[in-house]
Amino acid sequence: MSNIKNIAVFTSGGDAPGMNAAIRAVVRTGLYYNLNVFGIGRGYDGMVHGDIFPMDAKSVANIIQRGGTILKTARSEEFRTASGRQRAYENLQKQGIDGLVAIGGDGTFTGATKFIEEHNIPIIGLPGTIDNDLVGTDFTIGYDTAINTVIEAVDKIRDTAESHDRVFVVEVMGRDSGLIALRSGISVGAECVLIPEIKVDYEAMMDRLDRTRKNKASRVIIVAEGEDAGGAFAVAERIKERFPHYDMRVSILGHIQRGGSPTCMDRVLASRLGVAAVEALLEGRRGEMAGLIHGQATFTPFSKAIKHLGGINDNLLRIVDILSL
Ligand code: F6P
Repeated sequence: MSNIKNIAVFTSGGDAPGMNAAIRAVVRTGLYYNLNVFGIGRGYDGMVHGDIFPMDAKSVANIIQRGGTILKTARSEEFRTASGRQRAYENLQKQGIDGLVAIGGDGTFTGATKFIEEHNIPIIGLPGTIDNDLVGTDFTIGYDTAINTVIEAVDKIRDTAESHDRVFVVEVMGRDSGLIALRSGISVGAECVLIPEIKVDYEAMMDRLDRTRKNKASRVIIVAEGEDAGGAFAVAERIKERFPHYDMRVSILGHIQRGGSPTCMDRVLASRLGVAAVEALLEGRRGEMAGLIHGQATFTPFSKAIKHLGGINDNLLRIVDILSL
């Protein structure tokens, strides 16, 4: 058991739906164990600038259903420097903070690792990113909401595509990861899914578009934004070169994928992991990300959580192929 008395929670990197549910769970679990709980505004930037304030049960009332993050988030340049991290540490010390819960993605955990090395402060991470690109959890907080936002949008696109016999190239988020594209692609019956992890086989894609024409009025190609072909417009241009008679449109879904009320799955995931994070700090854990694997709370060292291991399930890609006839 640790002697932790005062903990702080912050969100960092891109926001994700469910972050508020996670903040609520951390604050209320801390209070349940008679800890003093603080919030830090704007992630590491707020830590460097002393934006640290007490939180109570009321300050997290009525937020479980809200998208975004009430603590705000930022990408901090100052925290990347040793002097910035020193200032951040001094600000935490002024409040007596002896444990942190960091909610974010790989940038957040990279910063946390450095901070622990230099200042020996216990930190537990929660996976908060729509990209689902962390090792050590089946799903990250925000992913389920984001893919449901994508399928709602693409279902609408499919209606108009079908009415006009059009081919749509739809770009979804995922800077280095095709997991949003892949799962949402299966859910909307996409004819092709292009992801950064797999080199684009243009010939196969053209063949498929040609072949599927006889069975379908509309075709939808889902492209992850980090995909190596240069984004949705570049993909559309190549298709148009080959099939000039196709009536084509491009739609870039953008940041709508990051907003909105979290799904039940994200709220429950965030609540479970928020409780697990505080209990982990009290058990003396540090430098680890809490995740759920096959429904079980699991702790993964930050160094492993941020290693992009490819993470693509070949079987899901195979399913896109088989079902696109
Ligand atoms: O990491 C989450 C994410 O939404 C990525 O999918 C995307 O590439 C990136 O953030 C966009 O970041 P920003 O909002 O800073 O443009």
